[in-house]
Amino acid sequence: MSENIEIIEYIKKTPKTELHLHIEGTLEPDHMFKLAKRNNVSIPFKNIEEVKSAYNFHNLDSFLNIYYQGSKVLINEEDFFDLTWDYILKCKKDNVVHTEIFFDPQTHMDRGIDFDVVINGIYKALSKAENELNITSKIIMCFLRHLDEESGFKVLSKALKHKDKIIGVGLDSSELGNPPKKFEKLFKKAIEEGFLTVAHAGEEGPPEYIWEAINLLKIKRIDHGVQCLKDEKLVKKLKESQIPLTVCPLSNIKLCVFDKLEEHNLKKIINKDLMATVNSDDPAYFGGYLNENLLQVQSALNLSKKEVKTLIINSFKSSFLNEKEKNNWISKI
Ligand code: HPA
Ligand code: ZN
Repeated sequence: MSENIEIIEYIKKTPKTELHLHIEGTLEPDHMFKLAKRNNVSIPFKNIEEVKSAYNFHNLDSFLNIYYQGSKVLINEEDFFDLTWDYILKCKKDNVVHTEIFFDPQTHMDRGIDFDVVINGIYKALSKAENELNITSKIIMCFLRHLDEESGFKVLSKALKHKDKIIGVGLDSSELGNPPKKFEKLFKKAIEEGFLTVAHAGEEGPPEYIWEAINLLKIKRIDHGVQCLKDEKLVKKLKESQIPLTVCPLSNIKLCVFDKLEEHNLKKIINKDLMATVNSDDPAYFGGYLNENLLQVQSALNLSKKEVKTLIINSFKSSFLNEKEKNNWISKI
């Protein structure tokens, strides 16, 4: 077998975990149409081709506009269940054995959808995944950073009765102009309530936002973080602390963070011994699920099998599984 075919097979067959996945970002165009019809919601597209051609983004905000529009077809608990279950079937296909998914309650509550409808739909699908397919998961609730901290506190209060289902809180949406420090009090309160914390930082924003996420929000992982290489001190900090970066290669290309995959800095990040992981972010919008991200980035950057293996092991190490569960999976890789 040639070396490359061997790596492709290795990527497909190896058990994997995903740590950066927005469940709303798994809404495939055909599913969007199905739900629009079922719920009698109008969407600004005539057919699936029109949806797909709208997926031409020039930055994060141009994507978010379309993404929030798409989410409007999600109304009832069964919609959130179906959405999550469809993603789980993708996990099965890709050999993803554990996934830690984000959801954005404010996107739905601001349209009058009850918090409980959202979390219960997602949670029921994830419970079924564990029972029937042995795919385990954690749920992370994200605050929308373009909204104010007050709105975040309201969502946090709704989440308190679901502590058994939600392991942590995160921070997503429009990064530039909405630094982590805007949410320092909210994250402090979330930590007091027992939630773990993560935050999107350094996707489009400067290294300073990564420092703030570490120092003020006390995060366990940085989501994206690819701007870190602009700051040598930060690279040293990330290397020493081994704070994980949940890198999303296809997302970074679709949102023009890098011009092309060959120019992505993932290999440099790996070579600097940072705790890098590969993830799919919003796969229905960015062109592929976890295997596709690994396959394309491996090929574009000519990653060795050893580097791919490191990435996969890093994801288990960086997950919120317990040590025994982590070691069990790592021993199988
Ligand atoms: N960045 C910020 N917010 C998001 C993203 C992202 O990549 N995906 C969904 N919400
Ligand atoms: Zn993201």
